Amino acid sequence: MDFIRTTLRPEFSGLDRAQISVCYPGYPQRSTAESEAAFNYRLKRDAAHIDGIGAEGPQRRRHLREPHAFLLGLPLTETRGAASPLAVWEGSHALVREAFTQIYSSLPAARWAEVDITESYQALRRTIFERCRRVIVVAQPGEAYLLHRHALHGVSPWGADASSGPDGRMIAYFRPAFIDPADWLSAP
Ligand SMILES: [Fe+2]
Repeated sequence: MDFIRTTLRPEFSGLDRAQISVCYPGYPQRSTAESEAAFNYRLKRDAAHIDGIGAEGPQRRRHLREPHAFLLGLPLTETRGAASPLAVWEGSHALVREAFTQIYSSLPAARWAEVDITESYQALRRTIFERCRRVIVVAQPGEAYLLHRHALHGVSPWGADASSGPDGRMIAYFRPAFIDPADWLSAP
């Protein structure tokens, strides 16, 4: 929190309620509720995404809905090995900022959510997979993940060597919103 306050200095409205990410041995497993492509995306691409840009409706159209200031993850359980750790594409935040600056800079921030960015988002992910290195980050209770809001990231499969306690691999993610949503594009 000191690094966030003194170095990043985002103007955010205090920590939000955490979102809990939990994985168990065997992740990912096929679900009847998802397509083959969606399962493969979890298996082979770590379900990589940028937070705040969810897919909506049967056509899975994408819009910027939540202007998160940063992502702060606190591990709640101890794990050993690759217990579905966080995957991050190194340097992706710079490509994402560049792409979204082209899309949004001619519009006031209040109108960004109106823009359907589905095709741009998909093309951007493909570019990142080609150009950025996938990095695995593991943390234990007492440590923290701090992720840039523009970084492409996801949850990697549970490794054959990995283990955890009965609660699995559990992380609490705080994703507070900017007070001024325009900061989503331009803040550090
Ligand atoms: Fe995420």
